[in-house]
Amino acid sequence: MLTALVSAKSDGVTTSATAMALASSRPVLLAELDLSGGTLRHGLLRHAPSGEGRVLDGRIGLHRLPRADWARGESESLAPAVDENLWPLDGSDSRVVLPGLTSPAQAPSLAHTWPELINVMQLSDQQHGFDVLADCGRLVVDRGRLHAELNPVQVLQQADVVLLVVRTTEASVALAHPAVQVLRQELTAGDDAALGLLVIEDGTYPAQEVADALGVALRAVLPFEPREADYVTAGGHPPRGFIRSKLMRAARSYGDQVREHAHRRRLHIRMGAAQAMSPQVASVAQRVAAQRGAGVRSHG
Ligand SMILES: Nc1ncnc2c1ncn2[C@@H]1O[C@H](COP(=O)(O)OP(=O)(O)OP(=O)(O)O)[C@@H](O)[C@H]1O
Ligand SMILES: [Mg+2]
Repeated sequence: MLTALVSAKSDGVTTSATAMALASSRPVLLAELDLSGGTLRHGLLRHAPSGEGRVLDGRIGLHRLPRADWARGESESLAPAVDENLWPLDGSDSRVVLPGLTSPAQAPSLAHTWPELINVMQLSDQQHGFDVLADCGRLVVDRGRLHAELNPVQVLQQADVVLLVVRTTEASVALAHPAVQVLRQELTAGDDAALGLLVIEDGTYPAQEVADALGVALRAVLPFEPREADYVTAGGHPPRGFIRSKLMRAARSYGDQVREHAHRRRLHIRMGAAQAMSPQVASVAQRVAAQRGAGVRSHG
């Protein structure tokens, strides 16, 4: 599953994506695709264990990929270059990060690299079982549309789920309105199921009320926990009971729910494609999907 997280204005994208990655019980690739620059290398990753004596410096990260993409042969994949630029998120081998840009000036150089990078992320998911969480930062809007170079537009368009991170404050909800409008317009036409809300509860309104006001499905609710959130972004020593904190428990449980939703959405899209191909194939696909759905429900 490829989940992209964005905000209208610095509402907690990096913290939420990283908390979900740290809490995940499945292998996870956290891709820092915020084109205004990555912050994890200056925070949590400063203290992450280094692989085989390597140091996380400016030679590792998303900004290394355009050159590797340009240098690769036509039949070669970008996967080895992506692999070389991954960094362990914590002590486990199964949670890794692609650290972000070291300068926003590098953003335009990625223009031709997105399709191949998306392909590598999709293969990590489909062939190697990695959930991919993409920190897509703040939306940059230009004349009512997503700015083509300053947002990872293709990632947003190809994500299984796009989560707009919103806080339950008046200011955050107010700025989320135009962000929803822009996202609706830019994501797959007429398919609203990709767009969802991740609400951080630190204000006056209940999360569901925020979702109703914005007319977007509520997919995740994270508590406001400054100590835990500060560790997730800034690193250092984890606060006592961090793994069992409300933030981490919510990140795990909603992470599972988002994955389940993404799975159903994929099935739905595949079924649509099959239907378009032939009515016979479609009816078989529908029966299989119904059986699988029943299986998932009875096991869930
Ligand atoms: N669930 C939370 N509880 C408490 N504080 C939070 C929570 N999530 C984020 N914060 C705090 O809010 C601030 C902004 O969070 P974060 O850096 O994750 O936002 P962002 O959307 O990635 O911002 P930017 O667009 O600037 O990268 C940080 O100080 C972070 O610790
Ligand atoms: Mg951020």
